[in-house]
Amino acid sequence: MDRSKEGLMVDALGVAVVGFGWMGRVHTQAYARVAHHYPKLPLRPKLVTVAEEVPGRAEEAAAQFGFASTTRDWREVAADPRVRAVSITAPNFLHREIGVAMAEAGKHIWIEKPVGLTLADARAVADAAAEADVRSAVGFNYRNAPAVETARELIASGQLGAVTHVRIRLFSDYAAHPEGALTWRYERERGGSGVLGDLASHGADLARYLLGDIASLTADTAIFLPERARPTGATAGHSLASGGELGPVENEDYVNCLLRFASGARGVLEACRVSVGEQNNYGFEVHGTKGAVFWDFRRMNELRVSRGTTYQDQPVSTVYVGPGDGEFGAFQPGAANAMGYDDLKVVEAYRFLRSIAEDKPYGATLADAVHSAAVLEAMVRSAESGAWTDVTVA
Ligand SMILES: NC(=O)c1ccc[n+]([C@@H]2O[C@H](COP(=O)([O-])OP(=O)(O)OC[C@H]3O[C@@H](n4cnc5c(N)ncnc54)[C@H](O)[C@@H]3O)[C@@H](O)[C@H]2O)c1
Repeated sequence: MDRSKEGLMVDALGVAVVGFGWMGRVHTQAYARVAHHYPKLPLRPKLVTVAEEVPGRAEEAAAQFGFASTTRDWREVAADPRVRAVSITAPNFLHREIGVAMAEAGKHIWIEKPVGLTLADARAVADAAAEADVRSAVGFNYRNAPAVETARELIASGQLGAVTHVRIRLFSDYAAHPEGALTWRYERERGGSGVLGDLASHGADLARYLLGDIASLTADTAIFLPERARPTGATAGHSLASGGELGPVENEDYVNCLLRFASGARGVLEACRVSVGEQNNYGFEVHGTKGAVFWDFRRMNELRVSRGTTYQDQPVSTVYVGPGDGEFGAFQPGAANAMGYDDLKVVEAYRFLRSIAEDKPYGATLADAVHSAAVLEAMVRSAESGAWTDVTVA
């Protein structure tokens, strides 16, 4: 234990990152920044090692961010006694194997959504973490937006009346280019259920975070771009692969879903990864008997709120979040100074480290990932059967 410049007693916590693509970089940046925003946090992450299978990528990460060592084999991370917490930012098909192994090795886990390919995968990682009594965090970053936290409080405090219905949308063009490479994301064995795991998982988490459990649903899915070009080299994120040999897209581009919440509220959740003209059009519209709240990720620090007692022609106001909303005060001194996407990951890192320091959960955990995965599984079953399907977590 050391004394920080502020005179606080702080412990160094050895952390590792497995998979250094987009999310691996964002987690690493969050570890690097978290103490800047949360100086009172009693744990300071220390970048011990990074595991990455693409030759050279881990070494570049170490040179840029200061990891003490690198490896091509994540099993070395599990066996490394310097590592106490691990970010699992590898593709979905590796979440279960790596997550279970890290938990069994006694490492705390910050894992990306959707946590595996199926409900069974998410549950296996959650069970292993519970068995090993390690803390967890899951990358449902949108719920960390201060405006989303405030929307949840507005709803919970009854200021909108009883919630009647909600629309949740997640539209993106990240897979809209016909020459987008046929990466792991488009294979059922490695990418799972396509846009369901990629985007609808965030929507399922937001729905539950705002309004409680989804009891049942009916879903329709589609693949709109059935073939893509195989990449000829390493990929990260959403690379193009022009002219490559074509192969089949195996998982969903689109899902449209009707929801019935346990509260009796109704909802629509729609997600698409091939929406030309839509860039991160993620958001929700929640309607109650007395008011409504609207959020759009592209204007992340704003809420549009209608509340009062006039019902008809009731005005809608724009509210800029400020230091009183969620974790905003850790980033900006006053309302309408913008926070950005990466800041949501700093909040996630903070909650993860705080949960380790205090030995109790903060923020989204593996239990939340199991709930989201149960919703996705119900979507898959409903799309196959065409029937209303109960969401079953147990
Ligand atoms: N929370 C969010 O908003 C968000 C956004 C994007 C992706 N994600 C999630 O993050 C995860 C990673 O997505 P990404 O966009 O960063 O993908 P990516 O393809 O950019 O990165 C994945 C990295 O893992 C590496 N990798 C593959 N197999 C490996 C192995 N055996 N050992 C070590 N490294 C290995 C790849 O080489 C690559 O560098 C996915 O689960 C995805 O669902 C979450």
